[in-house]
Amino acid sequence: MDYYFKVFFSVSLLFVILSVSAGENDGGDDLLIRQVVNEAEPEVLSSEEDHFSHFKRKFGKVYGSHEEHHYRFSVFRANLRRAMRHQKMDPSASHGVTQFSDLTPSEFRRKHLGVNGGFKLPSDANQAPILPTQNLPDEFDWRDRGAVTPVKNQGSCGSCWSFSTTGALEGAHFLATGELVSLSEQQLVDCDHECDPEQEGSCDAGCNGGLMNSAFEYTLKTGGLMREEDYPYTGTDVGSCKLDKSKIVASVSNFSVVSINEDQIAANLVKNGPLAVAINAAYMQTYIGGVSCPYICSRRLNHGVLLVGYGSAGFAQARFKEKPYWIIKNSWGDSWGENGFYKICKGRNICGVDSLVSTVAASV
Ligand SMILES: *[C@@H]1O[C@H](CO)[C@@H](O)[C@H](O)[C@H]1NC(C)=O
Repeated sequence: MDYYFKVFFSVSLLFVILSVSAGENDGGDDLLIRQVVNEAEPEVLSSEEDHFSHFKRKFGKVYGSHEEHHYRFSVFRANLRRAMRHQKMDPSASHGVTQFSDLTPSEFRRKHLGVNGGFKLPSDANQAPILPTQNLPDEFDWRDRGAVTPVKNQGSCGSCWSFSTTGALEGAHFLATGELVSLSEQQLVDCDHECDPEQEGSCDAGCNGGLMNSAFEYTLKTGGLMREEDYPYTGTDVGSCKLDKSKIVASVSNFSVVSINEDQIAANLVKNGPLAVAINAAYMQTYIGGVSCPYICSRRLNHGVLLVGYGSAGFAQARFKEKPYWIIKNSWGDSWGENGFYKICKGRNICGVDSLVSTVAASV
C-alpha cells in the first residue's frame, strides 16, 4: 500500500512537472491533469460553478454578454486546474482563486505585469560596491521602520515598473530625509520614455511596460518625482505629461545594479533601503499566501516589484520551518496575496528574483 502510494505520488509529481515545464499550457494536457488532480481533490472539480459564483460576488465581476460569461467561466475552470497544479508544484504556499482567476495567462501578463526587456544586466550600469555581510540581521523588514508606503494598485495597466521605481525611491528618500512621501507613478507612465541602452527598442512605455533602471535614469535626468497627490494615478497612458518641475519632492542622486548574490542583495537592502527587483510572476496569478518556493519556475523576468525585507522561518509545515524568504511588496492592491505582499523563498534565485536588482540613493 505504502509502496503503491509512493509510486503513484512520484508518477503524478513527475507528471505535474512535465505538464508545467511544457509551458503553462492550459489546453491539450487538461485530460491528463484532470486524472492527477481528481485523485487528490475530488470535491473541487465538482463544484466549479459554486466557485465561480463566489468569485463573481467576491470581486464584483460582471460580464457584458452571455457569451462573455460563458467564456470567462471556461477560463476560470482552466485557472482552477492551474491553481491545483501550482499547489502541487509549490506546497509551502497556498494557491487558489484570486481576482485574476478569469484571465488567461496572456491577458494576465499583458494587463497586470509590465517589465520590458531587462533579461540581461546592462553592461554600462553602475555596479553596486561589494558590502560586508558578516553582521547581517537574521530578519529584517523595512515596513517596521517606516520606509514603505501602503500597497498601491496598478489596475489593468502594465505599469508595474513605475511602482517598483517609486517604491525604491520612496524608501531612499525616507533614508535621506526621515520623511516618507508617496511618489507619482503617473509621472513615469506619462513622461518617461527612456530607452534601455542595452536593448534596441526597449523603452519605457506607460501601460505597455518599462524598466526600473531606465526609470531611475529618467528621474535622474528630469530632476525627480512629484508627490502621488500632486500627480495622481489614473491607470491609463493616454494623457500627456503634466510634470510641474516646481513640485518635485524626491530626487535620485545615483543608482546601481546589485550582483546576483543573496548576501549582497540583503546587505544592500539593509544599508540602502527597499530594492527594485524583477521577477517571473507566473505563480503570482494564483497566489493566496505562504512562502512561494516552486520546484520549477521560469527565470524569464516579466514583473517589477519591491523587495522590502527578509525572514528566516515562514513556513506553516514543520518540515519547511527553517526556510528563509524574501518579503515583496506588489502593486495589485491590498486584497491580493498577504495584504498585498508576497513571500518567496530565498536561496536559489527562484523565479529569477535575484537576477535584476537595483538600488537607488536619493539626494537631499
Ligand atoms: C552612490 O554613490 C556612492 C559614491 O560613489 C556609492 O558609495 C553608493 O554605493 C552609491 N549608491 C547607490 C545606491 O548606487
